[in-house]
Parts: sequence; structure tokens; C-alpha cells
Amino acid sequence: MTRIEKRPSLENLIESEDVGLEIFHPGGLKITRELAELCNIGKDKKVLDVASGTGESAFYLMQNFGCRIIGIDLSDYMIERARRKAIEKGVIIEFRKGDAHDLPFIDNTFDAVISECTTCLLNKERVIGEMVRVANAGGYIGIHDIHHNGYLNYSFA
Ligand SMILES: C[S@@+](CC[C@H](N)C(=O)[O-])C[C@H]1O[C@@H](n2cnc3c(N)ncnc32)[C@H](O)[C@@H]1O
Repeated sequence: MTRIEKRPSLENLIESEDVGLEIFHPGGLKITRELAELCNIGKDKKVLDVASGTGESAFYLMQNFGCRIIGIDLSDYMIERARRKAIEKGVIIEFRKGDAHDLPFIDNTFDAVISECTTCLLNKERVIGEMVRVANAGGYIGIHDIHHNGYLNYSFA
């Protein structure tokens, strides 16, 4: 019998099972397009996708908006998956391992810093502070996320 060492969480589920999904945010690429338009993402704009998952949004934004984009994610599994897809698609996008709480970039680096369906899982003040730090003055911070309105009679692990 295999003992499961990790506690149950969305990340652990995604990493241990093929859940048949490539995009892990509600609204799919339609909401990603909306976010890109709100953040003025366009040709040659320098964009960071924080918690880029399997890279679908990064591929979409590069191919449809002509931006230069880097994805970072804390999960080795996600980074590996995104890098493999970049090779398969024949596109050059850097996917780098990194923690959203401590972004591995110097100040004022990006025209837009986005994050989809992730800040709710993290220390929001810290992560948003980091996103602002690495964005250029006059740059854009774009976040879409989920929240609950009501009472939950269970807690997220
Ligand atoms: C719900 S998924 C969203 C992935 C992607 N943004 C999308 O919309 O498909 C959450 C992602 O956050 C990543 N993640 C969790 N904690 C993180 C952290 N501290 N820093 C960076 N990425 C993190 C997970 O590995 C996972 O890829």
C-alpha cells in the first residue's frame, strides 16, 4: 500500500492525477483575453504570469497579443509540463520556478504582471506587493480570482 505523504490540496491533486485539464481558472481563455485587454497587453509588451500553471495563458497571450511573456510557478511539475508544451508547440517562452511571495526579478521589469486564480490561495498582501514591485511605473497589475460569499462549514486544508 502506498502511503500518501502530502496533505490533500488542489495542487497535490493536479500533480498526482491527470485531471484532464490544462487551464485551472474559471472562464477559460475568454477571461484571460479580457484581462489582457484591461492590462493593455500588446505587441512587444513585457508580461509576467505569476503562477502560470501549465502555461496555457502564456501561450495564448504570446500568440494572440504578440507580447513577450515569462511564466513562473512554484511547482516543478507545472514548470516541466509548460516547458514540454513550449517545445511541442515550437515556441520560446521562459517558464521559471519561483515563489509568488518572493518574485525572482528586479524592480520595474514588466509592463504587465498578471495572475489567474491563484492569489486567493496565497498571502495576498505579500504577493500583490511583489507584483507591484516588479511592474514598471505606469504598468498594469491584473488579477482575476475566485471568492466565496457565504459561510463554509468546512475549511480548506
Ligand atoms: C489554480 S492553479 C492556476 C494556474 C494558472 N494560473 C491557470 O489559470 O491555469 C494555481 C497555480 O498556483 C501555483 N502556485 C501555488 N503556490 C504558488 C506560489 N507560492 N508561487 C507560485 N505559484 C504557486 C500552483 O503550482 C498552480 O500552478
